[in-house]
Amino acid sequence: MTTVITVCDTCKAETSLTPDAPEKDGAKLATLVEAAAKGNESVEVRRHSCLMGCNHGCNVALQAEDKLTYVMGRFEPNEESANGIVEYATLHDKSTSGQVPFKQWPAAVKGHFVSRIPVLNTDKA
Ligand code: FES
Repeated sequence: MTTVITVCDTCKAETSLTPDAPEKDGAKLATLVEAAAKGNESVEVRRHSCLMGCNHGCNVALQAEDKLTYVMGRFEPNEESANGIVEYATLHDKSTSGQVPFKQWPAAVKGHFVSRIPVLNTDKA
């Protein structure tokens, strides 16, 4: 099982220097996350246009079956952000619940958490 990183490819970073550029900050971040995740069997990366958190881009979501989901935002489209997102996703994959101890958090993700979503209870069906 892997942790899926969904990167919004239409986000504008809060501090975007080129908000009207044809390539959005989110697309730049997605390319960097894809590069950082290359060869990492713990993670998969996919792109999605708009995660509905546009006022705090760039946004990503981390999901895996039977684990907590995390939404993070306010990322700049740079290698430091991409490496931190992939590092955190790798730790998410290695954990049993999706929860990663704070002391293991990469510095690049600290202050970027937007929400944590509990596991969907599928036993009710
Ligand atoms: S454009 Fe990225 S969350 Fe809306």
